[in-house]
Amino acid sequence: MENKFKSRSEQYGSKLSAGRIKYSSPSNIALVKYWGKRPVQIPANPSISFTLENCKTITQLQFERSSNFSFSVKVDGVNNSGFESKIERFFNLIQDYMPFIADYRFQVETSNTFPHSSGIASSASGMSALALCLCRIEQQLNPEITDAEQLQKASFIARIGSGSACRSVYGGVVAWGQVDAIADSSDYYGVPVIKTHSVFENFQDTILLVDKGIKAISSSMGHELMNNHPYASVRFDQANTNMYNLVDVMKTGDLARFIKIVENEAFSLHAMMMTSSPGFMLFKPNTVEIIQRVRNKRDVTGLNLCVTLDAGANVHLLYPKEEKEKVMDLIKSELVGFCENGQYICDEVGRGPKVLNEDYA
Ligand code: PMV
Repeated sequence: MENKFKSRSEQYGSKLSAGRIKYSSPSNIALVKYWGKRPVQIPANPSISFTLENCKTITQLQFERSSNFSFSVKVDGVNNSGFESKIERFFNLIQDYMPFIADYRFQVETSNTFPHSSGIASSASGMSALALCLCRIEQQLNPEITDAEQLQKASFIARIGSGSACRSVYGGVVAWGQVDAIADSSDYYGVPVIKTHSVFENFQDTILLVDKGIKAISSSMGHELMNNHPYASVRFDQANTNMYNLVDVMKTGDLARFIKIVENEAFSLHAMMMTSSPGFMLFKPNTVEIIQRVRNKRDVTGLNLCVTLDAGANVHLLYPKEEKEKVMDLIKSELVGFCENGQYICDEVGRGPKVLNEDYA
């Protein structure tokens, strides 16, 4: 499979001396979670996510021909050495797939639309934006690459940078990991799930910012702890079952089943963290308080509202657009007090990355 994405220098018919490409690429929130992997970023179980609309990374990649490969990185206009080592590792890992990289000097300029240190991971949006820029340049060098192939390769390349980033290359609902229920699904790249019920087209995700601090443990470490986890195989079976059922729910729009599966996934992810060795807990007291209140409110009102969590303390509230007013009332009257500085972000299912501008010489 990997060979399908390996380009050869001879395929680069046209030569570019310089240029720049700017993409915006969104974050995504997993409904069935990816937690545990084999090298290199092959998921231990399939996952599926909503691509978001407002939480995104904007990345400009400027390049010029050079006898040596080199690059620099600016985050919000400032040089960033922490990010640089991540990008260097990424460039090294993808060289074989895009040999043109060796002949250019790159300048990466990137920023996020969501607040700094909001506890929202920017790796999915950041790595997908960079992968899209690189694949777009490669498409200029080899115009035989179709738009569909460019996107699929961007998903493949983004996955190498950060697993969940491969799902950010497409809008709507995206699956990653081979499953029988989704034709063309793959462990190597994400695929858009196109036939979804209309209720999911503009599903809402309001992110309650419980803790904006840096995570106590990185997701790479968390994935690694699944290697010797006593419950790993049961967890992977559970995720496969949840995936199978959720793919059906995405077609039927059965929200009661949606809520059950999505919350089961969120709690299972955090249960894996707590029961790994060493165990760790990313929940904060306010995370638990919000979850309890949401569930109580749902029991009393019948709102189609559920929670999910990423690898952090923040709570994502998922619900249909028609219920937005009632959910916002609940947030303002009962939940905002449990958010750090009363902060939350309103987002929804989005359409995916966009080219913001490009020019080549
Ligand atoms: O892509 P990574 O390595 O940052 O891992 C993401 C893990 C979760 O966000 C917890 C789950 C997921 O599927 O996005």
